[in-house]
Amino acid sequence: MDKIIREINERLQTILDQYPDGTVKEAMYYSLKAGGKRIRPLLLLQVIRSYGLDYHPYIDVACSLEMIHTYSLIHDDLPGMDNDDLRRGLPTCHKKYNEAIAILAGDGLLNEAVNIIINCHLESHLTLSLISCLYSSSGIAGMIYGQELDIQNEGKELDVTTLQKIHRYKTGKLIACALKMGSLIASEKDVDIWEDIGYTIGLAFQIQDDVLDVTSTTEQLGKPVGSDESNHKSTYVTLLGIEKCQELVNQLFKEAIEKIYSLRINHGLLLEIVEKLKERVS
Ligand code: IPE
Ligand code: IPE
Ligand code: MG
Ligand code: MG
Ligand code: MG
Repeated sequence: MDKIIREINERLQTILDQYPDGTVKEAMYYSLKAGGKRIRPLLLLQVIRSYGLDYHPYIDVACSLEMIHTYSLIHDDLPGMDNDDLRRGLPTCHKKYNEAIAILAGDGLLNEAVNIIINCHLESHLTLSLISCLYSSSGIAGMIYGQELDIQNEGKELDVTTLQKIHRYKTGKLIACALKMGSLIASEKDVDIWEDIGYTIGLAFQIQDDVLDVTSTTEQLGKPVGSDESNHKSTYVTLLGIEKCQELVNQLFKEAIEKIYSLRINHGLLLEIVEKLKERVS
């Protein structure tokens, strides 16, 4: 997996190299190169590999997803959103540059992601379905809607059903998208089951994120701990407590693994990522 992550990082660098020099391009570089676990592009490429296909022609597709994810983080950290000063171990984009540059760097990543897929010159039906999947999952019926609900519900005591809905949109949609895009490339008939697996992993992932916001350290996370509390957010931790959250996370990963086993694929490639996610400390 480290090799794939290296290949993703190299391609992200090459993709950005092609744009005209300027502060916005520099800020796009800055946020992308700061690091990050690259979970979403990795999931996408591992699905392709699990069907015995070569993933190399699709690395740019995976990069486009990481560009959308990184844009969402830049905007998530803005003063009008979560107002956080640290991301991926470095000052957030608006702290390093300024708010205008951070907004534009996010916009730049969002806009260019579509061109990256177009420039892969895949079969046109596949190109359209990949773009449609990426932009509907991250758009107003996807991640953006989740971010809206998240912000609007600050300061409110939520029930599990509402919180689950927020997590499904703000985080589940893009993780499900990673698996769906892999499946659109490798085996279109399995898209629905991959989407379902994605929501299960996505919920576990966001509950872990809520837990880490309370239990970890800023150094380890590379982003400020206690952000949720200072923004008066209801989270799975405020609702259920840390121990129950851990149980739920384990249960959800177990369900995801069972669903992965229902597919006729090389399971090990996906299980490796799930194991990595289960043990994650950042
Ligand atoms: C952070 O995502 C935002 C959430 C959905 C919790 P990641 O934890 O994948 O962040 P990076 O990409 O590794 O920085
Ligand atoms: C953000 O959730 C999900 C996104 C769509 C970016 P959080 O606000 O909890 O993510 P972190 O903790 O800042 O990474
Ligand atoms: Mg947020
Ligand atoms: Mg945040
Ligand atoms: Mg968080």
